Amino acid sequence: MEFIKRFKEEDEVHGIYELFSEVFVSRLGKSLGLPVLEVRLSHDGLRMKYLAKKVEDVNSVRNPAQLKRSLPFEEWVLNIDLKQEHVMADEGGNAFIIDHGHSLFSWKPLYYVYEVIGKPVTRFKLWSDDAHYREGVEIVRSIDKATRDSLLRESVNEVLDYKRLDQALTEDYITISSKILDYREKIICSFKN
Ligand SMILES: Nc1ncnc2c1ncn2[C@@H]1O[C@H](COP(=O)(O)OP(=O)(O)O)[C@@H](O)[C@H]1O
Ligand SMILES: [Mg+2]
Repeated sequence: MEFIKRFKEEDEVHGIYELFSEVFVSRLGKSLGLPVLEVRLSHDGLRMKYLAKKVEDVNSVRNPAQLKRSLPFEEWVLNIDLKQEHVMADEGGNAFIIDHGHSLFSWKPLYYVYEVIGKPVTRFKLWSDDAHYREGVEIVRSIDKATRDSLLRESVNEVLDYKRLDQALTEDYITISSKILDYREKIICSFKN
């Protein structure tokens, strides 16, 4: 079954930045083998696999280690909206982290980016542990900057097939998001659980 996350009409710029983040973080996470959903753009919204269950206990899922290793990735992409209700599982019990709409440069004025750029941003009691966190940092470091940035640009272009956005605003998103990734890749290893 499919879930459709319908396009939002309000605030054009950040609504489109949100789509850039959703598509890019999905592609990036998938390429690193992390538990994010594949998303597909369509005329009415983002389509993805339907997840039936909320995950209350991380150790009850089929892929606890994969989930625990994904925390550095969520910190890397500055996902300020990571919370327990965004961890969901399919019928087979495989867990995924949903909703990357508030990652990178979406829904953040620049002053706020400066405020949080050097800090952990996940808001609930984190589920990882030192060993898995360290493994997750290595996963983040395994992709090179050129590959990452071309994935970013491809994702943005995919969204622009469906939505129009001024070129300067588009370049702002790409440039600032890429800088966020550069900087946080260097510091996520110092974040404590
Ligand atoms: N793939 C999915 N399968 C089932 N329910 C989902 C899925 N994605 C989102 N939802 C439900 O819809 C809610 C809103 O989706 P979310 O991606 O968090 O959007 P928003 O940007 O509005 O917060 C989620 O909290 C969840 O309950
Ligand atoms: Mg949400």
